[in-house]
Amino acid sequence: MAVLPQDLSLFSISFFFLQLLVLTSSSALIILYFYLRFTTSRDPDLSRAESEKSFLDPNDGTRKPFPLISDPPTVQLSLVVPAYNEQDRFPIMIKETLEYLHKRKQRDSEFTYEILVVNDGSKDNTSKVVMEYVKKEGPDRMRLLDFVRNRGKGGAVRAGCLSARGKRILFLDADGATDIKGLDELEKAMNSVSSDSTSPAIVVGSRAHLEDEAVANRSFFRNILMYGFHFLVFFLCVKGVRDTQCGFKLLTRSAVDRIFTNLHIERWAFDVEMLYIAQCLNIPIKEVAVNWQEIEGSKMIPVFSWIQMGRDLLFIRLRYMFGFWTIKAKTS
Ligand SMILES: *[C@@H]1O[C@H](CO)[C@@H](O)[C@H](O)[C@H]1NC(C)=O
Ligand SMILES: *[C@@H]1O[C@H](CO)[C@@H](O)[C@H](O)[C@H]1NC(C)=O
Repeated sequence: MAVLPQDLSLFSISFFFLQLLVLTSSSALIILYFYLRFTTSRDPDLSRAESEKSFLDPNDGTRKPFPLISDPPTVQLSLVVPAYNEQDRFPIMIKETLEYLHKRKQRDSEFTYEILVVNDGSKDNTSKVVMEYVKKEGPDRMRLLDFVRNRGKGGAVRAGCLSARGKRILFLDADGATDIKGLDELEKAMNSVSSDSTSPAIVVGSRAHLEDEAVANRSFFRNILMYGFHFLVFFLCVKGVRDTQCGFKLLTRSAVDRIFTNLHIERWAFDVEMLYIAQCLNIPIKEVAVNWQEIEGSKMIPVFSWIQMGRDLLFIRLRYMFGFWTIKAKTS
């Protein structure tokens, strides 16, 4: 126990506070240990409802199973688009994306791709809107994975990437905030880390170059929160990636296989856990600047969410530290 000092010399007072600090932090750690122990499920919840294991082929009205991530790839590129209540913004985003892909196909007839939209239990007509495009493009080029309930962006990205056919898999936001043309730069960077496309590697789109400018326009308080968040990411989980949160990331199929089968977090902080796992597995990560615009109706991050994210980061780290979560390295 910390005992109030008899004499009030500087030494004994500092010693008292030191004792107090050690005592409170160790009790906090013990409380967190038991709290996390009883609230943490050990394995990622990769289970899916029966209807989530297949997609609707609008040509013949039948459902066909998605492939497994362990199957060999059958297209060069998969674009995985998580969508939650995106009926209004999706058509704008998909128009630009299809234009880009069609142009690329014209230039290079060997180029093969698919778009896999994951409707994350939307309350609006997202899945209807998406199905209209699936009908037009055909199920070989475009598919819909329709969640029966909302799971969060991490859950949607994970299921989508694990159901994709691509040699390389890009996930991108349904609001079209990132210019799809940035994919060219991501692929160039990918070629330099994983030329054969089979070794695991990640290239992340980054808005860090824009953040430097935006700092001047944001309130002091928001900047403090932002720097606090960056510091926590760096200190607790991921080193050497400036923008972990940009929803524009390219992975090789083997990286998806190793990382997403280990991913627990289904909500906002999933990007951080994903990169944390990658660094634990020594998977190379490259960061490439992308064009990004704040889209009207963007899900602005409220102050409360920053605090929640800070807590999530701490909990991610502690769960791995306490051994509640482990990373299973595949040998294949
Ligand atoms: C979804 O579509 C139905 C009919 O197609 C319409 O009545 C409804 O208002 C739409 N919902 C939203 C949120 O727009
Ligand atoms: C900052 O605000 C000024 C004026 O309000 C604007 O002209 C400028 O484009 C803004 N910069 C950024 C990076 O948003």
